[in-house]
Amino acid sequence: MGGFALMSELRTALPALAVLAALAGCGSKESKPLAAGTEKLASIPEYMTGDECLFCHRDKVGVSWRENAHRSAIREADREDPALAALASAGIKESGEVDYLLGGKRRTRFLRKKEYGRLELLSAAWVPGETGDEGKLIEAGARRWDRETFPSGCGGCHTTGFDSSTLRFMDISIDCFACHGDVDRSHANDPKLVFLSATRDDGKTLLNSACAQCHARDGRSRRTNLPFPANFIAGGDLFADFAIDTSPAALETPSKTDRHIIESLRDVSAGAPGALACIDCHQVHPNSTRKHRRLTAGAACIGCHGEGKPGRVRWTRDVHNKTCDY
Ligand code: HEC
Ligand code: HEC
Ligand code: HEC
Ligand code: HEC
Ligand code: HEC
Ligand code: HEC
Repeated sequence: MGGFALMSELRTALPALAVLAALAGCGSKESKPLAAGTEKLASIPEYMTGDECLFCHRDKVGVSWRENAHRSAIREADREDPALAALASAGIKESGEVDYLLGGKRRTRFLRKKEYGRLELLSAAWVPGETGDEGKLIEAGARRWDRETFPSGCGGCHTTGFDSSTLRFMDISIDCFACHGDVDRSHANDPKLVFLSATRDDGKTLLNSACAQCHARDGRSRRTNLPFPANFIAGGDLFADFAIDTSPAALETPSKTDRHIIESLRDVSAGAPGALACIDCHQVHPNSTRKHRRLTAGAACIGCHGEGKPGRVRWTRDVHNKTCDY
């Protein structure tokens, strides 16, 4: 449970440091308005952390959460991780300064923590080998710790409680708040109060909003022009702020993963009959798409199965995306 200990460590340091920063007057740069005409962004609420939720939801959710890719999207650096081991054995001195790893299936990035709520990104990356071959380091030549890229290019989708007006986050990786929003403590007696409860009937636009805030990887915030939404809270409507291209040209992406995401967003927002939202096919706890097999075949199946009765699969896990730089 190292990840959780770390998250809370960061969080307890936060208010104290914020006071210090304010006293020292160094908060001034960040409190500047983002762009002409943009009013102040809503602030990030004091949401409950994952370890608080899991105190009660240990049995059903806690068990699979340890293995969930969202939880470990950013994790404490393990010296035995092949990516970090490769960095060390290449004699790269920054390897000793790495605090966290990001990704791993297709690309691993190296991060270090400097200021509270911010991470620095090493310009080098690691690509795992295909089918058990050795992986390789890339761009290891022009190496440097980059202070700007993570806060302004990645943080909104790879951390939780990210505030676009300060470019700082509350917790590393993806915590319950990212999908369930600001959970009311009294939901224990009235589950309807929690977003994504089975007892609610939220429309597909709100359901898709929760996932698209991160999975629509070519979107852009109208308010901040950053590549992630401006202080979005799950349960709300994403699309007022976050502009996503669902035109036929956008669907020409070589990634079938991106393609089916854009199709779902397009059909749901057009109110197309039978449009499917992400969670009509996906279950986050446990991580599964088992239920998609029981759906009625239609247009949403063609991209991955071709025309006709679904059976043959024409989908490969080859997600590449320029926003994530891989
Ligand atoms: C004090 C204990 C407690 C805490 C803390 C707590 N929950 Fe719950 N939660 C419950 C109980 C009890 C229920 C109702 C019974 C059930 O469905 O498990 C519930 C229900 C839910 C449901 C709805 C289940 C359904 O389908 O109807 C969701 C979703 C949920 N909680 C998420 C969370 C999240 C996310 C957090 C942290 C932000 C959290 N809970 C914190 C006790 C708690
Ligand atoms: C990536 C998005 C995402 C994150 C992060 C997430 N959830 Fe969920 N959760 C969902 C969705 C979607 C559902 C609705 C049921 C389903 O499709 O799995 C759900 C359902 C639930 C339920 C009720 C259903 C059940 O299986 O009992 C509980 C309780 C719950 N989540 C708790 C949590 C807790 C606690 C955390 C953090 C440790 C968390 N969730 C993090 C997306 C998420
Ligand atoms: C805060 C950002 C964020 C939100 C919100 C989010 N995701 Fe993700 N999701 C990610 C990231 C980042 C990864 C990749 C983690 C990794 O493998 O490093 C991921 C991975 C996944 C995967 C692949 C899992 C695997 O085992 O490789 C699926 C499927 C997925 N998300 C579905 C969803 C669905 C459905 C929702 C909405 C209920 C959702 N996500 C909400 C950021 C998010
Ligand atoms: C019609 C059903 C369907 C809909 C709708 C759908 N998905 Fe998928 N998605 C799948 C299936 C099936 C896979 C194949 C991966 C698998 O079986 O685990 C997949 C793959 C993915 C992956 C890659 C997982 C990996 O292991 O690399 C991500 C991420 C993802 N979907 C996110 C989303 C998001 C976000 C939405 C909503 C905008 C969405 N999906 C809508 C069925 C669907
Ligand atoms: C994002 C790609 C994707 C989409 C969209 C998708 N599928 Fe699939 N489908 C897969 C993958 C991958 C598998 C194999 C793994 C699995 O079962 O999850 C699969 C398996 C299946 C199977 C089991 C086939 C067998 O021979 O065991 C059925 C049935 C199925 N899909 C039906 C559908 C239907 C119906 C739709 C549209 C509503 C759909 N799929 C949309 C990727 C997709
Ligand atoms: C709009 C949200 C968004 C932004 C911005 C974003 N990411 Fe991602 N990133 C994701 C999602 C969602 C996934 C999971 C995709 C999947 O598995 O289908 C992901 C996956 C990754 C992965 C894992 C690849 C793998 O599977 O091994 C890496 C590495 C990554 N992103 C790096 C970055 C970096 C570096 C930046 C900033 C330059 C960045 N991302 C910006 C949403 C985002």
